[in-house]
Amino acid sequence: MHEPMLALENIRLVYNRGRADEVTALDHLDLALDPGEFVTVVGSNGAGKSSTVQIISGAQRPTKGRVRVKGRDVTAWPDYRRASMVARVFDDPRVGSAPDLSIEDNLALAMSRGRRRTLRFSTNATRRNRMRDELSRLGLGLEDRLHDPMGLLSAGQRQSITMIMAGLATPDVLLLDEHLAALDPATAARVLELTADLVAEMGCTTLMITHNMEHALRLGSRMLVMSRGRVIADVPQARKQHMEAAHVVDLMVGAGDELTDRILIPELQTEGAM
Ligand SMILES: Nc1ncnc2c1ncn2[C@@H]1O[C@H](COP(=O)(O)OP(=O)(O)OP(=O)(O)O)[C@@H](O)[C@H]1O
Ligand SMILES: [Mg+2]
Repeated sequence: MHEPMLALENIRLVYNRGRADEVTALDHLDLALDPGEFVTVVGSNGAGKSSTVQIISGAQRPTKGRVRVKGRDVTAWPDYRRASMVARVFDDPRVGSAPDLSIEDNLALAMSRGRRRTLRFSTNATRRNRMRDELSRLGLGLEDRLHDPMGLLSAGQRQSITMIMAGLATPDVLLLDEHLAALDPATAARVLELTADLVAEMGCTTLMITHNMEHALRLGSRMLVMSRGRVIADVPQARKQHMEAAHVVDLMVGAGDELTDRILIPELQTEGAM
């Protein structure tokens, strides 16, 4: 069997351990993503979705369990050591880029973070052309504003550039945590399209958290449902494509176990379920 690109093994994450406000955010969390797999993640508030992203990126270290990327045990690696392998886009468009730096400098930083070594040796003109090309596909006219500081841009413009930056960093794993949440519907649709294009081009393993059931069903090839710090349903494409938003809500409350091939919590398992 081939190696998963990303594996979480029996992860437990406890915040504020030993204090009165101790919270177990993740428990018995197992997850394996194949290279190039695009997985959407849904779950109610506090289910542990963002905590999962924190564990993968290295922003949080698990209380228990192992994190592997490309077979390497990266559990003890701090986030900056994983940065060339793992890219993240957050819900807040202000996070993920430097407001005082120009668009050009932000994109250059993203490029240098990437693994495409040849870019390091390319001339400034080549790099600038590449940036202009990437920006012009957004159709926002930002290719003519390379010297503007990021902080001057609107939320949608900034999030679009953050997506481009994630693409330029050519990560193995891309983590999207409700990255459309702060955008108006038209801009969200455009950034969603950009997301799908970039993921298809890069072929990177992608985990996209969303509260939008339509997005969760329409994008990616697999959908995970999280509840109380673990994955309670793992829905393959063959099932996902026939599901409706209401079915996902059923799964979230544990009522729709006949809709998935694999319900991971034993007490929810029905006879005949695989
Ligand atoms: N930094 C933190 N310190 C303490 N507790 C935290 C911290 N971050 C998250 N938690 C707690 O951990 C649990 C899981 O939170 P998490 O942010 O992972 O949920 P989520 O699924 O992303 O929710 P949402 O849909 O609201 O974004 C919650 O009970 C939350 O209150
Ligand atoms: Mg969250």
